[in-house]
Amino acid sequence: MPDFLNINELDLPLIERLINRSLALKQGAKSNSRHLAAANLFFENSTRTHSSFQMAENKLGWSQILIDPQASSMAKGESLLDTLKTLKAIGVDVAVVRHQQADWYQDMVQNKGYPVPHLVNAGDGNGQHPSQSLLDLVTIYQEFGHFAGLNIRITGDLRHSRVARSNAEILNRLGARLTFVAPPQWRAPWFDQYGHYAELDDDLDQQDVVMFLRVQHERITQRENQNFSVLDYHQHYGLTPARYQQLKPSAIIMHPAPVNRDVEIASDLVEAPKSRIFRQMENGVYARMAILEYVTAESR
Ligand code: CP
Repeated sequence: MPDFLNINELDLPLIERLINRSLALKQGAKSNSRHLAAANLFFENSTRTHSSFQMAENKLGWSQILIDPQASSMAKGESLLDTLKTLKAIGVDVAVVRHQQADWYQDMVQNKGYPVPHLVNAGDGNGQHPSQSLLDLVTIYQEFGHFAGLNIRITGDLRHSRVARSNAEILNRLGARLTFVAPPQWRAPWFDQYGHYAELDDDLDQQDVVMFLRVQHERITQRENQNFSVLDYHQHYGLTPARYQQLKPSAIIMHPAPVNRDVEIASDLVEAPKSRIFRQMENGVYARMAILEYVTAESR
């Protein structure tokens, strides 16, 4: 029985099935899921991922075990692995975990002792964000019906972005043509294998998808925060009205959110006609239903 930890561990036919299943659920397909139980453990702040997993579990008719890490026995020193074994022992089928540590799940996957629930990675440090990636794929596929040959530009704090890491690899595998834009201090050579770096204004009128990333003030250094200029960043790396006007008619704007308004995107453009930011959130519920069905083997 599988976990869902890194979208890039899945083969392309399975990813296509998950995209199609997400869209079918959105269009009203019924789930045959048994009555199962999920625990959502969020060690980092979240609005979208946490609440949309809860909504997905509700729509599947599952029970939810609410765990606040700060109020749990982990605050007394119990490990995450022992916590997950405990949840399995009391009948939890799936644990959805967001954690500040990249690869938090390695200990759990290698665990040879008492079993743990199926694991769903809701974001690990600057590692991966596979459920965000699936909902992004659903949103792009819903718009264009394919990935091959699409020009997709990812702009922002690449170095700290788990969304960018998940998306760069999977979009490259799906045949998209990727370019990356970032301030020099937030570039990472890792992205070179999936595309190339550019300036935001290069070929902007040729882009099908322009994806912006949040400036993650909680992950950058104190010095970077002190030196950060909103105006300078917005001018060089932000979506301004002038840049919006250059986009081709069919282009769409994406952002995993939360958006720092007037930093990554001019506030008035967050809900502009080309923006799919709130559609991404809507699609997230159905993508997460598809993920929960998948890990509990309901859709295979
Ligand atoms: N996109 C995303 O992961 O948002 P949250 O941090 O609010 O879950």
